Amino acid sequence: MQTRPLGTTGPQVSALGLGCMGMSALYGEADRAESVATIHAALEAGVTLLDTGDFYGMGHNEMLIGEALRSAPAARREQALTSVKFGALRGPDGQWAGYDGRPAAVRNFAAYSLQRLGVDHIDVYRIARVDPEVPIEETVGAIAELVEKGYVRHIGLSEAGAETIRRAAATAPIVDLQIEYSLSSRGIEDRILPTTRELGIGITAYGVLSRGLISGHFTADRQLAANDFRAHSPRFQGENLRHNLGLVEALRKIAEQKGVSVAQIAIAWVLSRGDDIVPLIGARRRDRLTEALGVLDVTLDAADLAAVEDAVPAGSAAGDRYAAAQMAHLDSER
Ligand SMILES: NC(=O)c1ccc[n+]([C@@H]2O[C@H](COP(=O)([O-])OP(=O)(O)OC[C@H]3O[C@@H](n4cnc5c(N)ncnc54)[C@H](OP(=O)(O)O)[C@@H]3O)[C@@H](O)[C@H]2O)c1
Repeated sequence: MQTRPLGTTGPQVSALGLGCMGMSALYGEADRAESVATIHAALEAGVTLLDTGDFYGMGHNEMLIGEALRSAPAARREQALTSVKFGALRGPDGQWAGYDGRPAAVRNFAAYSLQRLGVDHIDVYRIARVDPEVPIEETVGAIAELVEKGYVRHIGLSEAGAETIRRAAATAPIVDLQIEYSLSSRGIEDRILPTTRELGIGITAYGVLSRGLISGHFTADRQLAANDFRAHSPRFQGENLRHNLGLVEALRKIAEQKGVSVAQIAIAWVLSRGDDIVPLIGARRRDRLTEALGVLDVTLDAADLAAVEDAVPAGSAAGDRYAAAQMAHLDSER
């Protein structure tokens, strides 16, 4: 497995991380046994970074990862690094109810996550969305105390903008910023990426396949459950979807010429953007994982990269990456 550093102060991690969200939430039904088998297969292939959130399925995702770690061979379990998001509030019906980044809440969230994961420490801990009511110094300061006590190894951020990143980094060492980055979501390139690079903070990129949209497997006639994120995502609606799938067809031509898949082209492009970027792969089945890991044998030369950017120019995706109510929570979009 190729590796990359997680920021200048973090650990060396596999060049691709496994994002486990879809195994519990947001993309429709997932098969539990297949999810565990996918985590085991990822660890077996040398993936070290497992990403989750305590609110993915309201604890379900952490318990699933805990089960997968307990049933993995000891050597595989020991190589696994957990990257956990906290802070999103939910109701018993699953409704989203804002964010809580107060220090007492941080400690409380961490206590429950350690139990559900069945580990004695979390490797990277981050608030999922900056809480506008709580200065980032307080939230990060509370995680820094957990680091001192040994419950957390490293501090990360998620969807934070340049100013918040600077304030957080002035409070404690930050290893990575988790943020959406793909051919269809290049918003970080103007201000955020130069800031993380200046400060030695790595990027764990999510949505590298734009939540399946640019994977080459998504079709316009796919039926989505009402609680599927994509049923409400602007990019998956009507004319936007038609336009965006047109971009995928342009990518498909390049993929076919190279003898690789569309998903592999999209992931390879993110990998090509710098060694400080670790794409999170949202595979929840072993066949998808195999496809994604196959990217490590794919090289895009300068001509390939130019063709890819011609096929999907920056800013060409139709529709925002989140619905308006969720965009409002993104410090990174301010
Ligand atoms: N910090 C944040 O705000 C934030 C937000 C979202 C996600 N994340 C993290 O980032 C991870 C990845 O995000 P994501 O799941 O949205 O990423 P993604 O890779 O853009 O999308 C995953 C979707 O792509 C589809 N897909 C098709 N081919 C695939 C392949 N070869 N490999 C992987 N997926 C393939 C999957 O399809 P199927 O339907 O076939 O499974 C799944 O629906 C999440 O699991 C989560 O840990 C963080």
